[in-house]
Amino acid sequence: MKKFKIEGQHELTGEIKISGAKNSVVALIPAAILSDEKVTLYNVPDISDTKALMEIVELLNGKIEYKNETMKIDTSKIENKVVPEELSKKLRASYYFMGALLAKFKYAEIYFPGGCNIGSRPIDFHIKGFKKLGAKVKIEGNKYIIRAEKLKGARIYLDFASVGATINIMLAAVKAEGTTYISNAAKEPEIVNIATLLNNMGAKITGAGTSEIKIEGVEYLGKGVVDVIPDRIEAGTYVIMGALLGNKLRIAGIIEDHIEALLSKLKEMGVNLKVENDCDIIISKPEEFRPINVKTLVFPGFATDLGQPMSVLLTQANGMSIFEETIYENRMGHIKYLQKMGANITLTDRTAIITGPTKLYGTDVVATDLRAGAAMVIAGLIAEGTTYVEEIEHVLRGYENIIEKLTGAGAKIEIIEE
Ligand code: EPU
Repeated sequence: MKKFKIEGQHELTGEIKISGAKNSVVALIPAAILSDEKVTLYNVPDISDTKALMEIVELLNGKIEYKNETMKIDTSKIENKVVPEELSKKLRASYYFMGALLAKFKYAEIYFPGGCNIGSRPIDFHIKGFKKLGAKVKIEGNKYIIRAEKLKGARIYLDFASVGATINIMLAAVKAEGTTYISNAAKEPEIVNIATLLNNMGAKITGAGTSEIKIEGVEYLGKGVVDVIPDRIEAGTYVIMGALLGNKLRIAGIIEDHIEALLSKLKEMGVNLKVENDCDIIISKPEEFRPINVKTLVFPGFATDLGQPMSVLLTQANGMSIFEETIYENRMGHIKYLQKMGANITLTDRTAIITGPTKLYGTDVVATDLRAGAAMVIAGLIAEGTTYVEEIEHVLRGYENIIEKLTGAGAKIEIIEE
């Protein structure tokens, strides 16, 4: 079993460079199969989710070249096949092949997706959207079977501004006959990134990044190219580490607007940070952190994916903070391990009352999901003594070169095998 071994309380300084966004690339790769030519993605992070998606595209007869963060995908010979269940279950984003295969072949057979166990995570909005476009959907065992004689543009209202449903419906509608409108669409930056690639391939999408997206169907999608945006969650995770342990730590290659909610919360806590050239943050630990309240929301609110890392910072604030998770019902798996390390936290349902500052002590903990794992790494970095984090495969799904990036900035963290 692989574990992180972290020796705590080392200052972080120097520079940490942010990679391309996981939650963008996991949709850009499936989007690429809509092209009948070649697609090039730049700034592609080398994480296990990327590898799983490459495996799926290769299985569908796509050809991929991936080196130096550039991925060239030749999708001219793509075939419609059933992706094996073990592969679909490796990640959540395998569900984007539903929208993409449906648009391309009018037929998709996809096993239930995997991903972090942070709540029930239904995909009913995706399915409703496909149906509105004219598809018939049935479930056979663990598989969705989606077919359409033809896809026709429709007006689709989402009951909740779901990131996955917005992207999946965009993929399915891009070659439909006529115009599709998605109302109450998600506004996350990743959606703009996907629409940019699709438009570059020849699609006609307007309004991505707002709550009303218009997609005029086109017949053909050709070659396309796009830069994967910087990972705002990875950036936020390192910014939080910088607030706790930084001595002029530079987090390089971010988009400030994408982490605005986090930065304003950190300023409220009294953290010293400076943004340079709109793309680098220089951050140092303050004398004291003021307590604050944090509630996760859809973009541009405080990202749910940063809630767990943020809760570690709140254990160091001087007084009582309230942290409320509103997107997922089960995203508090890390709290019991923070308590085990010495944090003073009362958890009721999805609300944690965190009283600090409390010293954390190294011990054995578990990464119950990807961002819980990031929270455990942060806790280990500030704890006295040595922390061992189990189930690190969750963390490696989303943080490129985490060991190299952290040790390069002065942390003592390694992967050990037991
Ligand atoms: N929801 C439904 N029905 C649906 C779709 C969503 O009820 O058909 C609910 C979900 O259960 C959840 C909420 O709506 O309670 C939000 O779900 P959303 O669809 O927005 O999330 P997602 O697309 O499944 C993506 C990211 C998540 C991130 C969320 C919110 C990917 C692969 N995943 O998930 O990332 O938390 O958006 O920003 O893009 C992570 O990176 O750690 C992660 C979990």
